[in-house]
Amino acid sequence: MIEGLRKPVSFHQKSKVVIIGSGNVGEAIAYTLMVRKQANDIVLIDVDEPKAKAASLDIAHGTGFYRQVWVRTGTYEDCKDAQMIIITAGVGRKPGQSRLDLGSINVKIARDIARNIIKYNDNPIIVVVSNPADVVTAAVLEETGLRRGQVIGSGTSLDTARFRYFISSALHVDVEDIKAYVLGEHGDSQVPIWSNVTIAGIPLDVYESQTGIKIDRDEIASITKTSGADIIKGKGATFYGVSMAVSNITERIMNDQQGVVPVAHLMGARYGKWANVCFSMPCIIGSDGIEKTFNIPLSPEEEDALDRSVEIIRDMQNQLGIFTNLTGSLE
Ligand SMILES: NC(=O)c1ccc[n+]([C@@H]2O[C@H](COP(=O)([O-])OP(=O)(O)OC[C@H]3O[C@@H](n4cnc5c(N)ncnc54)[C@H](O)[C@@H]3O)[C@@H](O)[C@H]2O)c1
Repeated sequence: MIEGLRKPVSFHQKSKVVIIGSGNVGEAIAYTLMVRKQANDIVLIDVDEPKAKAASLDIAHGTGFYRQVWVRTGTYEDCKDAQMIIITAGVGRKPGQSRLDLGSINVKIARDIARNIIKYNDNPIIVVVSNPADVVTAAVLEETGLRRGQVIGSGTSLDTARFRYFISSALHVDVEDIKAYVLGEHGDSQVPIWSNVTIAGIPLDVYESQTGIKIDRDEIASITKTSGADIIKGKGATFYGVSMAVSNITERIMNDQQGVVPVAHLMGARYGKWANVCFSMPCIIGSDGIEKTFNIPLSPEEEDALDRSVEIIRDMQNQLGIFTNLTGSLE
């Protein structure tokens, strides 16, 4: 029924990204990667094949302006020579459904997908977007048996972008000048790290006292946390913000950019009480995935909040049977 997913004529050097799950988020990511020319072979896979075909054709039509980008549907065999594989497949949360019930469904889907990926590529870089993102990332890591740095959850990179956006709006300053993080869970227990917010290197309280602009920290923390739900209330899903967050991670991996991004990953032994739990801390990301992770200084209140956030994720990992056979700490 749908024809024309053609290979571009000027298709020389291949950079390939496979996106598994071609719903709102997968499609928006494919579109963003195409527009930003971050790969020249973008493959969409979905259990709903007609949907994936329609999505890839819709985006492919735009490649009339970018001939060297090929957007198409594929199979797991396409993972073989992909530099990066992005998982966005899953089901949405139904009214009244608990986060744990949603987690058990999406973890099962992600484990199936992980097994299919590994069949064709035993050394991939995988980025996990499906929710609940931290535990799904942990399950994919466990199922694939890959190095910790090869399985990256988009985690709080989106929450961090929202946080920076709201701070920049309140301070009337360019968002690119805002250095700030949200860490911990990509969810309700997320922790905004106020103690190290800077505006182009100027500490926030110095900036406030010298400009006379005071920001309401509680309000900004609150809208950062609730804005995803507000968007879902208004239009049923969120996808553009997360597609930019994933595109930012893609940029680091495809171009070996060694940029610092807060992403979810399994904490190693040096994280002590937080070891063996998957959540977001700042990391350097390059072509090998996560190349370095940072345990940054926190205020006592922030550390307490992060402790609580980590316990929530650890509890969910345990209830979903993730890492039950893990002895020691994965390095
Ligand atoms: N991490 C973040 O910041 C963030 C932000 C937004 C959404 N999300 C999450 O991303 C996920 C996708 O959201 P969406 O709005 O695109 O949902 P969606 O329902 O529009 O799309 C999900 C897609 O997954 C497909 N799918 C289901 N099982 C599959 C399988 N086994 N193999 C391949 N495809 C399969 C479905 O057919 C569907 O097309 C959700 O879990 C959502 O909560 C995460």
